[in-house]
Amino acid sequence: MSSDSHLDNRLGLCASFVRRGSRLADIGTDHAYLPVWLCRHGICPSAIAADINPEPLRRGQMTIDAAHLGDRIKTRLSDGLSAIGEDEADDIVIAGMGGELIAKILGDCPYAKNPDKHLILQPMTRSELLIRMLCANGFTIMRQDCCVAGNKCYTVLSVRFTGETAAPDELYPYTGELRPWENDTHLRFLRGHIDRLRKQANGEARFGALADRLEAFCDNDPRHP
Ligand SMILES: C[S@@+](CC[C@H](N)C(=O)[O-])C[C@H]1O[C@@H](n2cnc3c(N)ncnc32)[C@H](O)[C@@H]1O
Repeated sequence: MSSDSHLDNRLGLCASFVRRGSRLADIGTDHAYLPVWLCRHGICPSAIAADINPEPLRRGQMTIDAAHLGDRIKTRLSDGLSAIGEDEADDIVIAGMGGELIAKILGDCPYAKNPDKHLILQPMTRSELLIRMLCANGFTIMRQDCCVAGNKCYTVLSVRFTGETAAPDELYPYTGELRPWENDTHLRFLRGHIDRLRKQANGEARFGALADRLEAFCDNDPRHP
């Protein structure tokens, strides 16, 4: 569990992707644990803690006030990035939401395609759908990692617009930049995809074929073919 002084592994991994010195926008901030931690540790000089709902923002304001960071962190009622100006933030975290909603938030924001913006995305579900949308719209995954928190496995993506829209292999939305042959947490995350695909395969055979390919991907270390 995260608090204002301690981030769990999931938010900790998001925090580790934020660039030192960047102004942060945390979209769907809820308790504002992430911006408080990043400002308190001197990583971000300032932050906007944004949420679509007033009640999470009220919780966030309490965390900010308790940390005496009200001069550096401002709360903002915002549906996605709609109330955040292009010049207000360098690094944008969208964490703890479904992949579909994260994809929508990015699709609705014209300046998400500003290549100077660094997007840190942590989908709770449907990461393959998010990665498919990113690839189709010219975003590149610069870094991806996984962690375990509360016995669940999560992935975090660091993404930037590059304009490259090469159609990825149908496996890439599942594998992203993960390296299961050298990282057990990446392997565990991909095993989750394989299990879900096997369940879907009861209805449609192509999901079974995809699960087989994903198994093979996990088993084959390209460094030792
Ligand atoms: C599960 S909490 C995640 C909190 C924190 N980001 C984390 O990862 O621990 C999801 C938050 O996203 C907010 N939210 C949902 N849809 C949103 C949207 N379209 N724009 C901004 N915030 C949104 C919810 O109100 C809620 O506070």
